[in-house]
Order: sequence, then C-alpha cells, then structure tokens
Amino acid sequence: MTANHRPVVLVVEDEADLRALIEESLVAQGFDVQLADTGAQALERLSGYAFDAVVIDWRLPDIVGLAVLDAGLDRYPDLVAVMMTGVGGVAEAVAAMRRGAVDFLIKPFQLSQLARVLQNSLDKRRLRQENAELRAQLHERYRFDTIVGQSPAIRQVFNVLELIAPRNSTVLIHGETGTGKELIARTIHHNSPRADQRFVAFSSAAIPEGLVEAELFGHTRGAFTGAVASRVGRFELAHRGTIFIDEVGMMPLPLQAKLLRALQEREIERVGESRSIKFDARIIAATNCDLRKLVKEGAFREDLFYRLNVIPITLPPLRDRREDIPLLVRHFVQKSCKSNGTASKTMSQFAMRRLMAHSWPGNIRQLENAIEHAVAMSGTEKEIPESALPEEILSPGTRQVVPLMTIPDEGINFTSVVSQVERELILKCLEKTGGNKRQAARLLNLSRTTLIDKLHRLNLLQDSSAA
Ligand SMILES: Nc1ncnc2c1ncn2[C@@H]1O[C@H](COP(=O)(O)OP(=O)(O)OP(=O)(O)O)[C@@H](O)[C@H]1O
Ligand SMILES: [Mg+2]
Repeated sequence: MTANHRPVVLVVEDEADLRALIEESLVAQGFDVQLADTGAQALERLSGYAFDAVVIDWRLPDIVGLAVLDAGLDRYPDLVAVMMTGVGGVAEAVAAMRRGAVDFLIKPFQLSQLARVLQNSLDKRRLRQENAELRAQLHERYRFDTIVGQSPAIRQVFNVLELIAPRNSTVLIHGETGTGKELIARTIHHNSPRADQRFVAFSSAAIPEGLVEAELFGHTRGAFTGAVASRVGRFELAHRGTIFIDEVGMMPLPLQAKLLRALQEREIERVGESRSIKFDARIIAATNCDLRKLVKEGAFREDLFYRLNVIPITLPPLRDRREDIPLLVRHFVQKSCKSNGTASKTMSQFAMRRLMAHSWPGNIRQLENAIEHAVAMSGTEKEIPESALPEEILSPGTRQVVPLMTIPDEGINFTSVVSQVERELILKCLEKTGGNKRQAARLLNLSRTTLIDKLHRLNLLQDSSAA
C-alpha cells in the first residue's frame, strides 16, 4: 500500500546548522523531511500530520524533547522515533528508549547512521503492519454491528461493504438525508486496514464557499486575508487514513477541478504555495443529490463523477425498507435508555404500529430523534405508550394547526367552512410575518402568486395591505 511512498520524517532540532545537515543527508537517502526548531512547532506539526518517523533533540529551547516524544507516540503508536542527546547523555538515552523511542544517537554522530537507523526501523514496522493485515484478513470477520437492518436492501449494502472495506477503492455513497451515509463511511474506515489512522470528515456545504479550498488543501500564512497562520488541510490530515467528502454535489465547479486533480495525482498544493504534497488517503464521497443529473445540467464535472463513482453504494430511504423499522426502533430505544441511564423500556404495540406506518421523510435520523423524544416523554413507564410519540408522527403535517372540530347535528356547509379555515390560516401567517407576503407564503408552503390569488379570492387584499 505504501511501497513506493517516500517516508516522511520530522526533524526537531534547534541548532540551525545541524538541522540543515540532517535534512540534506536524509533527503539524499530517499526521505522527505520536514523541520521544526522548537518543541511547540514540533507539537503543532505532529498534531496535523501523521509522520512516518521523528528525530528529536533532547534539549530544545522551550520544552524537553521527551515531551515531544510522548506526544508523538500518544497520537501515533507506530511512529518511529529517534532521540538525539548531547555528549554523555546515556541516562537520557535509556529514558527515551523506555518511553518508546526505537533508538538514540549521541552527538556527534555520523549522519549516515541516522538514515540507517530510520530505514531499519521503518522496514521492521512495515513487516509488522503487513503481518497484522494478513492476520486480520485471515481471521477477523468484518463487523458491521453498528448498522442495524436485515431488509434485502440493507443486506445488499453489507455484501458490498464486506468486499470493499478492506480495499483502497474510492466509494461514492448516495442517499437521502438521514439515511446513514456518514455511518456507512465510518464503518468502511473502521473495517479497513486504515482503521488505526484518522477518519477526516469534510462537508463543503458546511463551510463558506471562499474557504472551502483552504480547508481542504491547507494554506500558508498570509495566503489570503485572515490567514494569520499556516494550516494543514483535510487531505493532509487524512494521510494514511480516510477522507470523507460529504455533500460533494454542492462543491463549486472551480473546486471540482482542483479536487479532480488531487484525486488523479494523489497530491495537493496548499493555497499560497506552489510545492505539491503527496498524500495517501482513501476517498469516500457522499451526496444526497443525483450526480448524473447534475452532470447533465453542467453543474458537476463528468470526469470527477467517474473518478468518484468507482464503488457506488445507494442507501435506500427508510420508507422503502419498512421491515427494518421494528429493529431500528428497538435499537434506538435501548440506545436512548442506556445513554440516559434509565431502566430498559419497550415500545407498546400501538406505538410500534404508528411508527411502522409513518412515511419518515427524515429517514433514520428522524426516527432516532422520535424515539429519543418518546423515551423521554414516557417517564417511568416501562412500556412506551403511543401518546409519548412526537406530534408530527401522531398527526403528520397538521401539527396542532387545525383544532379538534365538532360536527353539529344539522351538518355543515363544507365549502364555506373550508374557506373560513383558509382565511384564518392566511391571516394568522400574515400577522406572524408583519404583513410580509413572501414570508407568509413560505410559512404556508405556497408560492407567492398562489397566496396572492387566494388573497384576491377571499377579498383579503385590502385588509392585509392595511395591516
Ligand atoms: N442502519 C442504521 N442502523 C443504526 N443507526 C443508523 C443506521 N443508519 C443511520 N443510523 C443513524 O442515523 C443517524 C443519521 O445517519 P447519518 O448521519 O449517517 O445520515 P446521513 O445520510 O449522513 O444524513 P445527512 O444527509 O443528513 O447528512 C445517525 O445517528 C446514525 O448513527
Ligand atoms: Mg451526513
């Protein structure tokens, strides 16, 4: 997986001359080198990037080298760390080895020795990782126990996951809101050989358009107004791990071009810098819109679509796999009781029927929220009654709007009652929006022209403009 990847080494050394010599020697030996001259800088670099190895001077101007070693190994247990100590630093060297350094060098040392120590340790590490991967492939069944469901539709998804999770293939997940796209992406990561590395999620819809590029690719200090410090982008953060690009359909076209380039070349450039940086991350993208349609409309690049659509996974909406509802309900009831520390409960039969009948426009997320609500509202009762369900499930779309009506014995004039209700609804909305028709139309889920038509028809135009 990483066979022809140049190992990336962080060198933490405050003496500029020695730092430069080490860099030159390691680069000549086939390493990529990054430098830090203080402990603080080293910590910052380590927090943003999974280095293969780190070389740390014992004595740094701000903090002790051991603290850098600890921080590095804490975050990346497989990090190859070498300490450098001054003359006579044998006790220190022993301390460093105890803490998990693979070796130490006492200054002055031969530069070639450093490269050799690093290379040996990296080779050993690679063998260890390969063995672990092989063992995992032989013995471990892939576990998808966070994903609940047994409908044919979801079983189909399990089958695909089992095949593709261990591989590096790019995955494109398509599904309506709340169908579990992010859950599936995380599950793929956790069942892949990259599970020990980071899962980095990114949504272009959650970030102002102007900042998306810097967020994805990182930026240098001063690259744009407000960039007071340089920053590692999400691609670099996900090095060795998985990057999840959510709502990929929302990505502006110029950025799609940059994303395509990154995926093709497997390298990125930080904003404000022309040096390119290699990365090794598995790509999982998700979308709730029909990308093929966006391609036809010219809103999504076709080449990017094909680059992402290597393994397509479509998550069915909950209304198309109703047989999973009881399982999901039980799962979420348990989860909610557990997280609130209440004794376990069950759903009453009537409540369960209601849940099974609902159309679930918000899919599993909506179901999860509804159960959380019901568990809370059921108080100390062991069996959750129908009445504990949220209003929108008991009477979908009419939540407390229309009051209970009684029909007099003599009957009613349907048309006139309906226009009476219409009239009241419209007046209420106009009152609420201070007479603003556009906002009132939005509240009523009507177009503005339909609302104005109705205002004419109900003779409300004068009243409302006077209001
Ligand atoms: N099959 C499942 N079993 C159990 N929990 C699930 C399942 N699918 C989804 N969930 C839960 O439902 C919630 C919504 O899932 P998730 O956030 O993955 O949806 P999404 O498709 O990414 O939604 P959006 O498009 O709104 O971002 C999460 O809490 C998730 O854990
Ligand atoms: Mg999501």
